[in-house]
Amino acid sequence: MILLVLETTCDETAAAVIAEPLRVLSSVVASQDDLHRRFGGVVPEIASRAHMERILPVVDETLRRAGITVNDLDAIAVANTPGLAGSLLVGLSAAKALCVATGKPLIAVNHLQAHIYACKVAGAQNLFPCVGLIVSGGHTSLYRCNSAIDFTLLGGTIDDAAGEAFDKVATLLGLPYPGGPSIQRAAVGGDCTAYAFPRSFAKDRERLAFSFSGLKTAVRYQITPPVDPRRLPADNNAPMLVADTVNLSEKMIADLAASFQEAVVDCLVDKSLLALEKTGLKTLAVGGGVAANSRLRERLEEICCERSISLHIAPHELCTDNAVMGAIAMERLRAGLTEPLSLDIKPGLVR
Ligand code: KG4
Ligand code: ZN
Repeated sequence: MILLVLETTCDETAAAVIAEPLRVLSSVVASQDDLHRRFGGVVPEIASRAHMERILPVVDETLRRAGITVNDLDAIAVANTPGLAGSLLVGLSAAKALCVATGKPLIAVNHLQAHIYACKVAGAQNLFPCVGLIVSGGHTSLYRCNSAIDFTLLGGTIDDAAGEAFDKVATLLGLPYPGGPSIQRAAVGGDCTAYAFPRSFAKDRERLAFSFSGLKTAVRYQITPPVDPRRLPADNNAPMLVADTVNLSEKMIADLAASFQEAVVDCLVDKSLLALEKTGLKTLAVGGGVAANSRLRERLEEICCERSISLHIAPHELCTDNAVMGAIAMERLRAGLTEPLSLDIKPGLVR
């Protein structure tokens, strides 16, 4: 069987051709980082317009590299949840159009489940059942993953996603977008104990939850102490102060980056262990853009080795958004889980 997978949930326009037994025949990712950089985050309207321009050339190039045409495909898969509404619509519309034109079946891909499946694509044996930690720009969640088609949400962030916190804190420190890699680089040589940033829910041994907005605010107040509200003008539209206006030293940036990164990593490691404890599972799979973070990888490797937990982290090139991880659709096709052409997008998190 041969599948074409489309991925347009956020700001990457991606497609891949996957064959069975699990093999990647081609993969193309058109990144939009350059378009969003000056805004310090993804601008949804720009993202959806860029997807529209790129989706057909990306599909053509992916098929060309695989040396096939649409007629050789057995099905067309597309990530329809979760993500930015406008972005999801472009991928879903393109997939439906291909299905109508070729008469091939349509398969739905859950983008978060696909992030975990990246570990399987990379060769993980006996991945399921496992606890899945998904850490990306839009999500930070723990799942009980019974199989490739059976995931149950255990808990997640109540406010910002970890990647979003990396991106916002990078902006505060005057570091370029995307913030995760910038903070990782800036943290090298920094002292991760220099600032005592908060670890939300650390003492709560019941709740599998994350919260990063307080941490983000703590970094901000470290840079620019909060102003007494009585001294603020009534109409306070003042822009947020960022690093170049407050003139942070290189040492301070490195220490702030390292201390912030350590706080995020502590929360992610701690709650992953709690999820393993609660479920009694012995396998942890980690995916999503933030899974590329070398400090997170190092800490998880250490602790999982100590506790004899089998750890699978998606390889670097499959951490950030791509269509290869959508190979999970092959499992759905095998299970007969095809979708009608009335399939809709579901931008919010599906539980
Ligand atoms: O999975 P992804 O490509 O997109 C979403 O589905 O959201 O994740 C993008 C996020 C961004 O917030 C980016 O800053 C973060 O992943 N990221 C990292 C690293 N590389 C990418 N965060 C921390 N350390 C990294 N090395
Ligand atoms: Zn993602």
